[in-house]
Amino acid sequence: MTWGLQNRVSRLMKDGHTVMLAVDHGYFQGPTTGLENPRKTVTPLLPYADSLMLTRGVLRTSVDADQTLPIVLRVSGGTSILKELSDEVVTTSMEEAIRLNASAVAVSIFVGSEHEKETLANLSEMVNAGERYGMPVLAVTAVGREMARDARYLGLACRIAAELGANLVKTYYCEDFRKVVDGCPVPVIIAGGKKVPEEEALRVAASAVRDGAVGVDMGRNIFQSSDPVAMIKAVRAVVHEGKDAEEAARTVRGSLPAR
Ligand code: 5RP
Repeated sequence: MTWGLQNRVSRLMKDGHTVMLAVDHGYFQGPTTGLENPRKTVTPLLPYADSLMLTRGVLRTSVDADQTLPIVLRVSGGTSILKELSDEVVTTSMEEAIRLNASAVAVSIFVGSEHEKETLANLSEMVNAGERYGMPVLAVTAVGREMARDARYLGLACRIAAELGANLVKTYYCEDFRKVVDGCPVPVIIAGGKKVPEEEALRVAASAVRDGAVGVDMGRNIFQSSDPVAMIKAVRAVVHEGKDAEEAARTVRGSLPAR
């Protein structure tokens, strides 16, 4: 790794672990529940995130430029929930990511989907540009409706992302998750997925970290929580302090709904 790339990766991590706050959902879902007004959602959560994952449009309009939190800029998209989701292109150039002072860029890949090849080409294009400028690339293993979220499929997608040069990979937690991590020679982060009860989401995060993930890139299970600030604090306790889900939920007891 060049110094710049290494420096950017280390900005995202605290003691080798990370809590990324994902608020990029609008790029294909529009005004998702909890993110109707991105500034309102994001502002109270910023002090508790290690980095913020979002598109350039929401960054420029909804986050003040004096904010020092590392930015993970989503640079693939160009589709919507009304169409085939794998039909993505690179929407944001590496030069724009540098102008926005991003600490990493994020590109989705859709292994096994209709536009698998194009999405792998998008990732490769950004890795080549990232190598030129010292910008880390986070590959997001998006899962098509027809795909199984199991260790075999996720392991395949993560490994392909790493082989193409991604510096970090984001995927989903699954049974036998350690196999996914063991087969992926770069750090793995998990997405939170659909909103579930708080303690369940914390259990998934705790299991993922126990099984080798370096952290989470979590969105809906934080910003759709009845108490997003309490929830992100609990996620931090799991990822950075190694607390189990029950213990983490207890630290914010009173705010989070009981089991
Ligand atoms: C969408 C994304 C999201 O950022 C990702 O899914 C994380 O959000 P959530 O925890 O809500 O799943 O990359 O492609």
